[in-house]
Amino acid sequence: MKHILIIGATGQIGSELTMELRKRYGNQNVVAGYILGAEPKGELKESGPSAIVDVTDGAMIESVVREYHIDTIYNLAALLSVVAESKPKLAWKIGIDGLWNVLEVAREQGCAVFTPSSIGSFGSSTPHTKTPQDTIQRPRTMYGVTKVTTELLSDYYFNKYGVDTRAVRFPGIISNVTPPGGGTTDYAVDIYYSAVKGEKFVCPVKEGTLMDMMYMPDALNAAIMLMEADPAKLIHRNAFNIAAMSFGPETIFQAIKKHVLEFEMVYNIDPLKQRIADSWPDSLDDTCARNEWGWKPAYDLESMTVDMLEKLRAKLK
Ligand code: SER
Repeated sequence: MKHILIIGATGQIGSELTMELRKRYGNQNVVAGYILGAEPKGELKESGPSAIVDVTDGAMIESVVREYHIDTIYNLAALLSVVAESKPKLAWKIGIDGLWNVLEVAREQGCAVFTPSSIGSFGSSTPHTKTPQDTIQRPRTMYGVTKVTTELLSDYYFNKYGVDTRAVRFPGIISNVTPPGGGTTDYAVDIYYSAVKGEKFVCPVKEGTLMDMMYMPDALNAAIMLMEADPAKLIHRNAFNIAAMSFGPETIFQAIKKHVLEFEMVYNIDPLKQRIADSWPDSLDDTCARNEWGWKPAYDLESMTVDMLEKLRAKLK
């Protein structure tokens, strides 16, 4: 990776991945790709180059790739699970037609491509505990359908054209810079904001709903480590299970309450979020990622909670 383009650089993951890549690869070598209405601001805007890159416009991607001599593309454009249910056609257009554009440019220009998959690529018929790397993937959400297709199309471009496609299946990502939007796992971010603002948290999924989650620094490391990994060691490509922690709402609530004694939570179940969450695994088996490229998370629920509360207290002061 010498010259990197992030598509979706102002989103939850993109905004932090761009800054982390600039730190490691040099500010001028990492281009923040954004769409109109989601322009980069502050440090993200000032620290390096940015360009309008609409993933649904192949010519636009190609011209930015040529202009900046891009050799690696992080394609983070997507609609998350809940919002994709209300806009399935748009979710497909961004997730799959967009991916096709990215892969075609990558094939012609010789770029490596990272397009994340998700715990959402699994469904009710998948084994829910310690979900294996290679298993049943029959999701019923449009988000899941696009993620399984992403994995297959990315593998297709690798096998047929030799495009260096690699990806992970992200769990719910917890972060404190840019909020997520329209996801099922968003509650695990929102709960920290409520705790720091002194508000009672209204939880949209019921007690005992286990899902895999991960703190942003680990997610960034995973995305970068995998793209830096020795290709000779990769048996899998699209996409690796990665895991850091698995919990239900009552467990994250207790972890926060240890530090915010007056914190309160009530439940008001959102049926769509509950249905989606119930169809996703309780915990993933990430042995292949650990063995093939040395994946290992640094944060557990307790260390993440301490850091989240500290960062959000400073941010919301
Ligand atoms: N965070 C995503 C969502 O909840 C899952 O990958 O939609």
